[in-house]
Amino acid sequence: MRALIAGNWKMHGLLADVATLAAPLREPAESLACDLLVCPPATLIAAVAAALAGSKVAVGAQDCHAKHTGPHTGEVSAAMLKDAGAAWVILGHSERRADYAESDAIVRDKAEAAIACGLTPIVCVGETGTQKAAGRAEEVVGGQLLGSLPDDFAGIVAYEPIWAIGTGHIPTEADVIAMHAFIRAELVRRFGLAGHGFRILYGGSVKPANAAALLNLPEVGGALVGGASLKPEDFLAVARAVAG
Ligand code: PGA
Repeated sequence: MRALIAGNWKMHGLLADVATLAAPLREPAESLACDLLVCPPATLIAAVAAALAGSKVAVGAQDCHAKHTGPHTGEVSAAMLKDAGAAWVILGHSERRADYAESDAIVRDKAEAAIACGLTPIVCVGETGTQKAAGRAEEVVGGQLLGSLPDDFAGIVAYEPIWAIGTGHIPTEADVIAMHAFIRAELVRRFGLAGHGFRILYGGSVKPANAAALLNLPEVGGALVGGASLKPEDFLAVARAVAG
């Protein structure tokens, strides 16, 4: 299974930035040993999809609503994102869980909507620093997996320790190995053989300097990259750290 390097632009980028953030990925993506995905803000999906049309770089969104249409002012449905050119969608990112009170049940409903529309969901899980210090990381992540993944799940899990996001701090290699093994075991326990096939990404302060060490650990099927995805040369350096 090829690794996936996914860039989460968060709330960054205007139309004028598409030429500098997305277009430079086209050529290098041809010769990478991994798959490449960028998830711009919803307003840029159509423009980024146009800029990357015919390339090996996929386009995704950062969230979707659980309903397909309806009276939900300000929301964007999975069908709308697909219509705009997205094939993937990040769901349950810790910033959404924390800032918009997204529960596991909401994330699961969104994942169901995404799958029904043909989008591949990337469901994020991860513990806070306090939970980790209390020795509760596996319990928290296990609960999030159970609650956030629908029974018909087909997609990707991103393990993002919240304390590692945007901080420059990363877990030890031993902790990454242990958590990814735990997530894999949970996926297999619930989904059987299919559970072996879902890629598990690591996310949280992935940079060119630490990418090779993180990305080539067992059960690490790629990375969800925030800050470094806003510099194409750094994003590509992370992708090149995937062993061919
Ligand atoms: P970061 O963000 O790479 O800037 O830590 C990761 C994420 O939030 O997905």
